Amino acid sequence: MRLYQFGKLGSLDALQMKEAEVPQPGAGQVVVRIRACSLNHRDLNIVSGTYTSLPIKPGAIPLSDGAGEVAAIGPGVTRWKVGDRVAPIFVQRWLGGNLLPEYMPSALGGPSDGVLAESIVLSEEGLVRIPSHMSFEQAATLPCAAVTAWNAAFVKGQLQPGQTVVTLGTGGVSLFAAQFASMTGAQVIATTGSDEKVERLRGLGAGEVVNYRTTPDWDRRVRELTGGRGADLVVEVGGPGSLARSISAIRYCGHISVVGNLAGKATIDPGTLFAKRASMCGIQVGSRDMFEAMNRAIEVAKLEPVIDRVFDFADARAAYEHLASGKHFGKVVIRVS
Ligand SMILES: NC(=O)c1ccc[n+]([C@@H]2O[C@H](COP(=O)([O-])OP(=O)(O)OC[C@H]3O[C@@H](n4cnc5c(N)ncnc54)[C@H](OP(=O)(O)O)[C@@H]3O)[C@@H](O)[C@H]2O)c1
Repeated sequence: MRLYQFGKLGSLDALQMKEAEVPQPGAGQVVVRIRACSLNHRDLNIVSGTYTSLPIKPGAIPLSDGAGEVAAIGPGVTRWKVGDRVAPIFVQRWLGGNLLPEYMPSALGGPSDGVLAESIVLSEEGLVRIPSHMSFEQAATLPCAAVTAWNAAFVKGQLQPGQTVVTLGTGGVSLFAAQFASMTGAQVIATTGSDEKVERLRGLGAGEVVNYRTTPDWDRRVRELTGGRGADLVVEVGGPGSLARSISAIRYCGHISVVGNLAGKATIDPGTLFAKRASMCGIQVGSRDMFEAMNRAIEVAKLEPVIDRVFDFADARAAYEHLASGKHFGKVVIRVS
């Protein structure tokens, strides 16, 4: 079978396609024939050598997100049978409850082997069933971006119907957050740096769209659009460079789910958070329990993930380049087989 492995990190030259033996399942393990993978911003950071949260071992298989079918089961497996349509969970050991630091080395695509391979082997515990209406390409978009958005909006964010959420930019996490919010009757104010993406955001259910380049004080616009009250929740992917504006955009006792750091470094004054009696918390994707709860909601709503472009397995490098260009709207997918 074919797989990719990391060579020396630092550039896309680190992506090396190789031939390998198809893995065999041990006790409690399953082999998944991967049919599609998708990319996340983190994968760009890993390959460029700028990802510092966890050590990435040389020779690891890239990418956390994929979907496929169970091809073989090892002794003692009870959760799955051959042919089941599945996706791996991002942090393999985080099944439910609170995240513990000792779970983090089991994150796929670094430090643990990921999914950019024709077949992978995982613990039977580290998989969920994919929504029945989805293709493998659609389901491959779920494990990181969608679960992160679910956690940020509904678990930590406690978003309710009728409330207002702000999403930043049109990356994978933000579009899922906008789709989930509108699916449950919340009001979405979306931002983007690109006028061409405005109508597409409206098509996904965003009631209002603000261009953060032409309206850099988008926090003021959010307050105007909410009658001076402010938004209930911001799903924050901008990070240090936009946090101060997010604090300014939320209502008294509002919440910020801190997901990413696209917008670089800046300092914030904790007093501004205190003045609003607001809360802020960091998000790490989500547990298997969250993934399963999300899939139930997705199945009921027949939600369709937004796929920007699908690349062939041999063109993985071009898929990374496309994500890095920032021209995408939604998920960049690699078809495996
Ligand atoms: N904590 C976690 O568990 C977790 C999980 C997933 C992702 N993340 C993080 O969340 C962030 C987003 O990830 P992703 O995979 O969704 O990203 P992505 O698909 O690469 O999308 C990035 C998009 O964000 C927008 N953007 C770029 N620079 C921006 C800026 N300065 N301010 C506001 N928006 C900006 C752009 O949209 P426009 O063209 O529309 O402006 C861009 O297309 C990354 O920092 C990632 O590492 C964290």
